[in-house]
Amino acid sequence: MKTSVTDLAVLGGSPAFTEPLAVGRPSRVDRRSFLERVERILASGRHSNGGPFVEELEARLAELAGVRHCVAMCNATTATQVLARARGIRGEVVMPSMTFIATAHAMRWIGLDPVFCDVDPVTGQIDPGQARASITPRTEAIVGVHLWGRPCPASALEDVAAEYGIDLYLDAAHAIGTALDGRPVGGFGNAEVFSLHATKIVGGFEGGALVTDDEETAERVRSLQAFGDGIWNKHGGTNAKMSEVSAAMALTSLEALPDTVSHNRRNHDLYVKCLDRTPGVSVERFDPDQRPNHQYVIIRVDPAETGMDRDTLHRVLLAENVITRPYFSPACHQTEPYSSLPTPRSLPHTERLAATVLALPTGTGTSSTDVETVCDIVRLAVSHGDRVVRGLQAGPAQEPHHDDFEHGSGSDLLSARQ
Ligand SMILES: Cc1ncc(COP(=O)(O)O)c(C=O)c1O
Repeated sequence: MKTSVTDLAVLGGSPAFTEPLAVGRPSRVDRRSFLERVERILASGRHSNGGPFVEELEARLAELAGVRHCVAMCNATTATQVLARARGIRGEVVMPSMTFIATAHAMRWIGLDPVFCDVDPVTGQIDPGQARASITPRTEAIVGVHLWGRPCPASALEDVAAEYGIDLYLDAAHAIGTALDGRPVGGFGNAEVFSLHATKIVGGFEGGALVTDDEETAERVRSLQAFGDGIWNKHGGTNAKMSEVSAAMALTSLEALPDTVSHNRRNHDLYVKCLDRTPGVSVERFDPDQRPNHQYVIIRVDPAETGMDRDTLHRVLLAENVITRPYFSPACHQTEPYSSLPTPRSLPHTERLAATVLALPTGTGTSSTDVETVCDIVRLAVSHGDRVVRGLQAGPAQEPHHDDFEHGSGSDLLSARQ
């Protein structure tokens, strides 16, 4: 255990971890189950085009979401585009800026204009009042985002969408298995979209799934994601189909979800316990009634109290081989192509969050010993914030060697921003 500030790797000590401990490592799955499924795929010769594993996954996800329809697709980004196309949306789409850039890019890529609104400063979630204030005569939809593994105020967003007669979609990339006031996430708005990317709590290597109770939306989406096959072929279409091997992986990962969530909950509780009395560092708490999946452990770093900003803490941890993520910084409106729009918006709550939040490692690849070690480093660093900063100004003993927030090397997962 490191006891002195000079033990920190960034100031010359040895890294606490020999292997990288990263945010977003894939959840553990039962290898045998997965490999058996792969054997069945190979034996059947059915590799794609809505095979039995895709069908089974769709049935299970619809059940989890409490809706009648699910269409599994190649990723959440494309699934959201197919949804907007299926609903015939044009013009502006209101969304929070505090989200992964994919939420905005998905809409812009199909010619829609993202309009960013501010978030609730306490929860970090989209603020329905701010969403309402961002609606113009050109607005045709709101995209709410369930941030950090628990639901956003989706029922209040439903009220806003109904008041203006516009669509509501939910980016549920982080929120599989969660619930708002007893209503499972997946059943809000016109449709919701889960991500099954490798970094998500349920992973299918790559993958996404649209869930909805609206039969017509489901039928259109099913058609458009397979080249406009069937009833909707007059509208064209794209190829967003999920492969059988992705479905096999996602099913295996879904079976592990209860264990994964329990593991994450224990990690989260331990982070809270270990960092609870650390001035200037607060661990985001989640309401157990919302069935949080604890996909992310988020801390906020207050430089006024710690003497160091979030980016310095990231750098300290990186030198220890702990790869954290600033989910989400820069916020969408602070980065291109949105930051140079003619009327850039000022979103004070989002900007404050974007400057202070940091996701710490969790998931089934992160043990309680790992969590305790990360917390020891955080406590040591922030209780000597001024000395760390002065030491770094004098010239770092050890520069980050894998990855920073934007650039990676080696592993796909370490190099992606996801
Ligand atoms: C909030 C959010 N929305 C959308 C996405 C995009 O998901 P996918 O990679 O499945 O396209 C992600 C993925 O990281 C995300 O975190």
